[in-house]
Amino acid sequence: STDETDELFTVAADYLRKRLTPELSQPKVAIICGSGLGGLVDTIEETDKVEFSYEEIPGFVSSTVPGHAGKLAFGLLGKNKMPTVLMVGRFHFYEGYNLKQITFPIRIFKLLGVETLIVTGAAGSLREEFETGDIGVLSDHISIPGFCGVNPLSGPNLPAFGPRFTALSDTYDYELRVKAFKAAQKLNFTPGSIKESIYCFAGGPTYETRAEARFLKSTGGDVVGMSTVPEIIVAKHCGIKILGLILVTNKVVEKKPKSADPMNYQQMMNYQDQEPVNHEEVIALGVSKAKDMKNLVKTIIELI
Ligand code: 6GU
Repeated sequence: STDETDELFTVAADYLRKRLTPELSQPKVAIICGSGLGGLVDTIEETDKVEFSYEEIPGFVSSTVPGHAGKLAFGLLGKNKMPTVLMVGRFHFYEGYNLKQITFPIRIFKLLGVETLIVTGAAGSLREEFETGDIGVLSDHISIPGFCGVNPLSGPNLPAFGPRFTALSDTYDYELRVKAFKAAQKLNFTPGSIKESIYCFAGGPTYETRAEARFLKSTGGDVVGMSTVPEIIVAKHCGIKILGLILVTNKVVEKKPKSADPMNYQQMMNYQDQEPVNHEEVIALGVSKAKDMKNLVKTIIELI
């Protein structure tokens, strides 16, 4: 029931609060570290850090991937010693969790006093001008599962957190987006390597077919990924300010085969002229660019 769920949020928040100093138990900022971006946790001074594995927190689902059990890390981040909570490892829809399980931590963050959520993740580029290694500052999203009623807010509303019907028209905070670009400038990022982008959320775990990629491109999406949006929707519902940052790990294969000579099958086989995306490359790119993302997030927090 609604009440039981409500209670579980409180139980989890109390569990964490009881084990933290007053300074760390009221984080102002929450960061979700996406694929290959777990290194963001190093931005916290080792001495300040308090960590909880997901398994030990009441109500948290634990990861289905062995050896990838995630954790929450509390600490003070950047020159301004911002009280921050980091989610190292997130839950994905394609792992079989439902969107309520995936977004459970967001409401814990709200109860602890978080005002700003920075969501990071990997994504494929749907645009010629979005190169591998570029960073996208989300300005909007398109939730493909959302159109079919797959939404973390479906079911009984929890009025303690927010309204039944949530407007998503201004989900991506303008001031935070400006700060992201200011931070990139401060860090001397190559001009054009950080761009505003519209994120298409697809459920995964399959990558797009060529036809699906062309469809997503035609909707106005700039990048596509399998995460990020569920957490953002729940954060918006409870009034948390949102910044979405994605790392472009690959270009989406979308080229249409040239019209075939139906009698020439050798020509047809030659249409496979783009390398398919593979998960190892996506992770490797995340790891190699993690430092840029880490510096960017840290500098943004120093501007908050
Ligand atoms: Cl190409 N597609 C999706 N759906 N997610 C991705 C991706 C592509 N690259 C990284 N994540």
